[in-house]
Amino acid sequence: MNFYILTLFPEMVMNGLNTSIIGRASKAGYLNIEAIDIRDYARNKHHKVDDYPYGGGAGMLMQAQPVYDAWDSVTKRTGKKVRTVYLTPQGRRFDQPLVKELAKEEDLILLCGHYEGIDERVLEEVVTDYVSIGDYVLTGGELGAMVMVDAISRMVPGVLKNEFSGVTESLEGNLLEYPQYSRPEVWQGKQVPEVLLSGNQKNIDAWRLEQSIERTKERRPDLYQKYEEMQECRELLRQQKLLHMDMTELIDRGQAELLYVQGKNVCLRDTVSGIVFLSVDDAKSGKEMVETVIVREKPELLVIHQEYMVSVIEQMLQGEVFVACQQFVYTKREKLPITGLYRLDGKSEEHQIEIRKLGMQHMEIANKHYGMMDDPGYIQGRIEAGKMFGAFYGETLAGFIGLHEEGSLGMLEVLPEYRGRHIGKALETYLINDCLEHGFTPFTQVVEGNEISMKLQESLGLCKAKQKVYFMEKMLYNTSDL
Ligand code: ADE
Repeated sequence: MNFYILTLFPEMVMNGLNTSIIGRASKAGYLNIEAIDIRDYARNKHHKVDDYPYGGGAGMLMQAQPVYDAWDSVTKRTGKKVRTVYLTPQGRRFDQPLVKELAKEEDLILLCGHYEGIDERVLEEVVTDYVSIGDYVLTGGELGAMVMVDAISRMVPGVLKNEFSGVTESLEGNLLEYPQYSRPEVWQGKQVPEVLLSGNQKNIDAWRLEQSIERTKERRPDLYQKYEEMQECRELLRQQKLLHMDMTELIDRGQAELLYVQGKNVCLRDTVSGIVFLSVDDAKSGKEMVETVIVREKPELLVIHQEYMVSVIEQMLQGEVFVACQQFVYTKREKLPITGLYRLDGKSEEHQIEIRKLGMQHMEIANKHYGMMDDPGYIQGRIEAGKMFGAFYGETLAGFIGLHEEGSLGMLEVLPEYRGRHIGKALETYLINDCLEHGFTPFTQVVEGNEISMKLQESLGLCKAKQKVYFMEKMLYNTSDL
């Protein structure tokens, strides 16, 4: 990800961001952070960039021209308009959902103001987002920009060495992190909680969850309220466990944003993919949800859980079904046996495959063989996120599988010359076990009519939901479009 920080104090920003994890990730090429000195774009002899405000008042303002030229130097290089954040106490509060949203950008410009601010005309011209890091006034935007770069970067794949830590720490799923302890076992007479020494992971996880809940209740009652609301919603969805597994998994993985809940009508957004999921009790409630939430949120992709909602969306928004899928869930806790299917130690023999993560060198072949996605960048993103796995004979790729952004197993493809060797089964076994290790419930959505995949799910012991889910796209939201 590329950050361009427009500032009058480039050394301040770069000194702060050259160290520790962010510095290391920049050196390793996961991040590119540049500070652009606005003063370099002043057109006068003394490199003056400020002047008095018209109408009087305290202090000086940064002038429009050098700010615009500094900004333009970036967009000329990127060849496109880049999302541009102006750091100001008047902006939207910077929080974890915004962090995640911005982490999806390939480029981001952060504009730091100084003095009493910046000439409004250039802000109107270049700024896409006004962001505040908190309700206090700083002397300039630089510290805010540094905070933003830090928080966004840790969501960029590769920046944190432990790929899952970006999603398991504080504030995911509206809970604060549990307390942690390291050696020694006793310090100043204080003992490490017994359960952490027990070696029983189930008990440890339960204790940590309980601590997170207690801590959130005490320190952040506002967050706790959101957590409780989400749990109630989860309970509701669990009444049809198989049908709603895609939605409850979003909640359990801490990537759900609750957009609407009333009675049995629930609407969630996946904060990672932006896909909106809805489940309703009857068509009338469904219509109401479309009129209020869907029209406001304008998602590109909708996942609906009741067949009658297809015609509601078709009529109200001209949306089209992209695919109808049968949902399958692996409901057991035990891992699947892997004997003979593949090896994990890199020592695959001639007849055995090895399963490992795909690298960027496999992107082309994966895109060539997996035809479901219109956007070739999608597979690239999943590879970058470390969520695509290949079956290899030595260096030769025989098939692959992946985890979709919203958590389902998918993108399973065995190359034609390797079919009939149970490679698909091996790949899915591997990924099911990987999900279980991370505490997720494995589930997949099989496109209607794909009998081979349906058989595979049944042979692996996945349970089939009675009703289908429908992915809908091409909704028209502007009244002028309708
Ligand atoms: N510039 C001055 N104060 C700020 C704040 N609270 N957040 C972001 N940028 C700022």
